[in-house]
Amino acid sequence: MTNDGRPKGVSRIAVVLGALALCLTLIGGVYFAVGSERFSSFFDPSFKIPKQTSTASKGPQIGGPFELVDHTGAVRTNADFAGKFTLIYFGYTYCPDVCPTSLTAMTDALKSLGSKAKNIVPLFITVDPKRDTVEQLRMYISHFHPRMVGLTGTEEQIAKAANAFRVYFAKQKESTPGANDYLVDHSSIVLFMDQKGRFLTHFSHAVAADAMAERIRKFL
Ligand code: NI
Repeated sequence: MTNDGRPKGVSRIAVVLGALALCLTLIGGVYFAVGSERFSSFFDPSFKIPKQTSTASKGPQIGGPFELVDHTGAVRTNADFAGKFTLIYFGYTYCPDVCPTSLTAMTDALKSLGSKAKNIVPLFITVDPKRDTVEQLRMYISHFHPRMVGLTGTEEQIAKAANAFRVYFAKQKESTPGANDYLVDHSSIVLFMDQKGRFLTHFSHAVAADAMAERIRKFL
């Protein structure tokens, strides 16, 4: 008998059960710490924990805070899109070729995703704020997805947003000084960001809408 009056057998069972519970807790802890995918290989003597486990450290960060004006004249910041996926394209409404192609692909991809696309906001951010006024943007995006948001701003705001998303743009010379017929060179990629504004993937402007939809679907 133990000094608390219980039989020795019961006490032993309690100790064994206690030890077993401790073991399970430790194994559980290791399981969560190492990650379920690597759990089986944890017991493999040749297994080494990879030096780089985070994809976030690969390459420069894409995305960041912005403050712009939308096609209705309302101020919009990155915080307005928290909780939504965003499909972002930087371009300009006077672009003769590449921009309409990209925006059409975005529109068709979202349409083919149907109700699955309801949490994705397509954004068109101009790199030509001088000509792409609120009114001009409103008219232009009406040709594309009904939920598309057009964004413009001051030259400084646009430069800051483009820089955050690693987008290059450069205004070319007018035919005659002061004329409004200039072109703007710009990166032509579609960026797909998650609900916290983190980069997920990107598409070239030449991607087919179906291929874009398929890749987006995997993140939803
Ligand atoms: Ni363009």
